[in-house]
Amino acid sequence: MSLVNGFSKLSKAEKVHWIVETYFNGNSEITNLLTSYYNSDQALQKLHDEFIENTITNFYLPFGVAPNFIINDKVYTIPMVIEESSVVAAASNAAKFWSKRGGFKATVLSTEKIGNVHFLFSGSKQKLEQFIKDIQSKFYENTKHITKNMEKRGGGILAIELVDKTSELKDYYQLHATFDTKDSMGANFINSCLEEFANVLRAEAAVYANFTETEKNLQVIMSILSNYVPNCLVRVEVSCAVEDLKSKEIKDPQYFAEKFVQAVRIAEIETYRAVTHNKGIMNGVDAVVLATGNDFRAIEAGVHAFAAKDGKYSSLSHAEINDGIFHFWMDLPLALGTVGGLTTLHPMVKFALELLEKPSANELMEIIAVAGLAQNFAAVKSLTTTGIQQGHMKMHLMNILNQFNATDEERVKVVNYFDTQTVTHSAVVEFIESLRK
Ligand code: MEV
Repeated sequence: MSLVNGFSKLSKAEKVHWIVETYFNGNSEITNLLTSYYNSDQALQKLHDEFIENTITNFYLPFGVAPNFIINDKVYTIPMVIEESSVVAAASNAAKFWSKRGGFKATVLSTEKIGNVHFLFSGSKQKLEQFIKDIQSKFYENTKHITKNMEKRGGGILAIELVDKTSELKDYYQLHATFDTKDSMGANFINSCLEEFANVLRAEAAVYANFTETEKNLQVIMSILSNYVPNCLVRVEVSCAVEDLKSKEIKDPQYFAEKFVQAVRIAEIETYRAVTHNKGIMNGVDAVVLATGNDFRAIEAGVHAFAAKDGKYSSLSHAEINDGIFHFWMDLPLALGTVGGLTTLHPMVKFALELLEKPSANELMEIIAVAGLAQNFAAVKSLTTTGIQQGHMKMHLMNILNQFNATDEERVKVVNYFDTQTVTHSAVVEFIESLRK
């Protein structure tokens, strides 16, 4: 396979042609496959083509909804974009379950975003501290053109502090800046401010009278926001009297509650379990993050760092029984936006936000964390009662039926039969084959 030059300059059709010729022996079925995913609405297709570079087609993911979520006494239908079966069903079940037990409570604890200018400085720390004090106002003055609009919306730069990291890395200091970006995720805003801080730092150091020649040579390594946002935090919780947990599936609520709490404790102390436990939370979180056009990689990175904040990776959620009350809760760091970025560009993102009745970023933090807690409740409930395979295999049954192009009549027979039988791939295939004999 030879390297290709100027690929990005080719038209979309030429790119597809190159791919098909180079990797698929010119197979026209591949061209048909790729073009079958194009949208007939040219403007919509162009919009999608231009989100990224080198687009050759679209990639669908299912967009589902989980109704009946009560959060702070308000009812929501939550949009979820995810490829994994059972997730939307689990969220919906947990939503319904808690809707009869007071719903979810959510509180935004803090909304601070963070960015750093990482730099090297060789010299007197005291002089550097004084220098940063002396030039503080310059950081604000030189970013006025960037912060003006954000300040109108009530946000802006909160603080700019010097952090000494020299005990961990020779000559390494940071400007640790905090921001309030209101309803925007704020990545561009923060990065633009940081790059301006870096310019000020460099330029002012070069002419600072108290610095020696070496000190004047302060070297900026990079300026970038941090996706670790432990002070952009939302708390979500559910609680009810243990006896009120009684339901069709929970016959013995005391036994259930104790086993549930034990399962969460295991995730608190055992990393192997914690990762999977938190993955279940992220099933709910990521699905809503994607549907609302937010950056799921940023959220994932930040959440997992938070799960390890005490030096050991641990469960994000916690549970206890206190005076006969079952309490299940989680604090989650979520830097989100409901304006700017994809939120104004992607029609389905716009739709998702309208479905949520145009939430503020704070309200979206609450909704997304609730989706995570609901998902976690559903997963741990299944794991500690029936096991998850029962539900999963029911969904799997549908996939097998599709694979075999089952008729409506066959579907009814298969579903009825497996209502009382264990679903395995081979058992379903055998049953379909027996029907077709
Ligand atoms: C599967 O996607 C998620 C679970 O494994 C989460 C968990 O184990 O808690 C069911």
